[in-house]
Amino acid sequence: MTRDPSPVPPLPPVAPRLLDWFDAHRRDLPWRADRDPYRIWVSEVMLQQTTVAAVVPYFHRFVAAFPTVAALAAADEQRVLKLWEGLGYYRRARHLHAAAKRLVAGHGGALPDDPAAWLALPGVGRYIQGAVLSQAFDRRLPIVEANSLRVLARLFGYRGDPREGAGKAWVWAAAEAVLPAERAGDFNQALMELGALVCTPAKPACDRCPLAAACVANRDALQEQIPPPKKQPVVTEVSEVGVVVRRGGKVLLCRRPADAGRWQNMWEVPHAERLAGEPLAESAVRVARALTGLAVTPGAEVATIRHSVTRFRITLAVVGATAPRGAFAPGAYAEAKWVTPDELADYPVSAPQRKLMTHLASGGA
Ligand code: ADE
Repeated sequence: MTRDPSPVPPLPPVAPRLLDWFDAHRRDLPWRADRDPYRIWVSEVMLQQTTVAAVVPYFHRFVAAFPTVAALAAADEQRVLKLWEGLGYYRRARHLHAAAKRLVAGHGGALPDDPAAWLALPGVGRYIQGAVLSQAFDRRLPIVEANSLRVLARLFGYRGDPREGAGKAWVWAAAEAVLPAERAGDFNQALMELGALVCTPAKPACDRCPLAAACVANRDALQEQIPPPKKQPVVTEVSEVGVVVRRGGKVLLCRRPADAGRWQNMWEVPHAERLAGEPLAESAVRVARALTGLAVTPGAEVATIRHSVTRFRITLAVVGATAPRGAFAPGAYAEAKWVTPDELADYPVSAPQRKLMTHLASGGA
């Protein structure tokens, strides 16, 4: 249970100093140009999973393609996924798309100034609710993400793990306790900005911190211990085989089903785990047959792609193969197309598959 967090001790008011610092040091980021709730929402969904620097170009492309919630709602899912390609966490893009459709159907395309309406949307939890409503409508709602979590834990000198159990409840209570009555959105962004620019995980620049005088970790020299390091998952090595099946000048590209565990509705060359001791060519024939119904003639290994997904470290050995005849059989995949190497760029694919396809499009065997 995460109720009854240990109480947040009183602090001298930090908001005026933090807001002054933010006004002077805030980065000029594209979603800060106005208070359009749609743009703020898109930015926050992207920022939930990656850095500001990585998000900026994706954000520009996404809002150029879909400038309004109505445009996003009307979009084809493949286009949404294509514009998200490389950001990862594609379920978030799908949820964003589904939520846009609901807002258009149920709210006439308006983004409501209503916390309960937001929480009812797919993909919206407390973070997105607080981030959008505080920034767009100045609602006094807290946010917690990796940067503000670190700032709050150090500021209050919280010794537990604020990412887990009672610590989670504590950090949300702390985020709420420090929020000023006005400029809540700027304050939330200022906490994140301070975490990104000053109160960094290693070697925080306490000499430049507007909150240093109030900070318990600074007072007690505990910056390196607070918060405790994230628990690292045990990594499992996985060997996979992928098959580039060719017919004429084309390659077989397969679409994952809508109910696949990950990368739903995205495209790829067929791949699966190798069996222990199985020679690579045999793996390729077995996997191609099982996933596409095609009898292939295997050739040479054309690439080795290494990537990580959650706690799995995957080595994908990719084999070239030919299948001059025979029909693709749907089942493991929803559908398949024979495409030229140039066309591979048009389809939404996972990051490791994009690596492979860039290799193929540049004339890689
Ligand atoms: N990380 C998450 N949201 C952010 C924002 N609005 N500005 C900067 N970094 C963020």
